[in-house]
Amino acid sequence: MSVLNHIALVTSAFLLLLTQWSSSWPVDPTLGFISLPLNTSNFHIHKPYNLPISKRYSFKHGVHKMWVYFKDKPLSLNSPTYPRTEIRIRGYDYSSCVWQFEGYGYVPCGTANVTIMQVFGASPHATTLMLRVGSNGTLTYYRTAVLDPYIYDRWFRLNVIHDVYASHLKVYIDGVLKFEAPGRGGKFHYFKCGVYAQPDGSYYMESRWKGIKVLKKCD
Ligand SMILES: *[C@@H]1O[C@H](CO)[C@@H](O)[C@H](O)[C@H]1NC(C)=O
Ligand SMILES: *[C@@H]1O[C@H](CO)[C@@H](O)[C@H](O)[C@H]1NC(C)=O
Ligand SMILES: *[C@@H]1O[C@H](CO)[C@@H](O)[C@H](O)[C@H]1NC(C)=O
Repeated sequence: MSVLNHIALVTSAFLLLLTQWSSSWPVDPTLGFISLPLNTSNFHIHKPYNLPISKRYSFKHGVHKMWVYFKDKPLSLNSPTYPRTEIRIRGYDYSSCVWQFEGYGYVPCGTANVTIMQVFGASPHATTLMLRVGSNGTLTYYRTAVLDPYIYDRWFRLNVIHDVYASHLKVYIDGVLKFEAPGRGGKFHYFKCGVYAQPDGSYYMESRWKGIKVLKKCD
């Protein structure tokens, strides 16, 4: 092998390594986005219809804590859905541009088979994206891709970017791009986070959220 060949080989190996290393290097997914104003009127709480909000939701020291029991009632009397306690972001339903949800989430060990974040609105389905915590603390996209093998008992930064124009979504955990998915149709969308029980949900489900931001980019 000539010296030049050798140099070329070493260089390309180095570049490959650099590419792999840089793709797992945390970035700030909010760069270039505008953060929209939020106040309590933008946080609409969904909870079991027969209970007051304070029985399933608290807001202390900047932390929204939401919990629900598998045997709880759904959000409305005749709803066939599983129980939930969720923040539904209100006032920012969208149908164009690029939108982003940012929040720091925390899921205690034991909470399982539950959706903790949603991009609502799709067609014919109800949702464009569901992030779900499975049996052993996995964070998954619906029941398919694993985004994090063990999400329990730590604060993680979640960024979900929904490019409506391109019908494309990106999910970042702690600034690292973990997953990309196509959109699922629908004319309008909004963000939700909290706990929404799924089949085989654990007896008790909880997630905490802080630093929630809704961001937007139109260009
Ligand atoms: C919250 O913001 C909305 C507009 O986004 C405004 O109309 C409302 O008065 C605000 N409420 C409070 C309590 O600041
Ligand atoms: C969860 O972990 C247990 C113990 O390691 C294992 O037996 C079980 O198959 C796992 N369940 C799932 C759904 O991965
Ligand atoms: C979650 O669902 C799986 C699959 O249905 C089930 O095996 C498991 O026991 C459930 N986990 C909990 C904690 O309920």
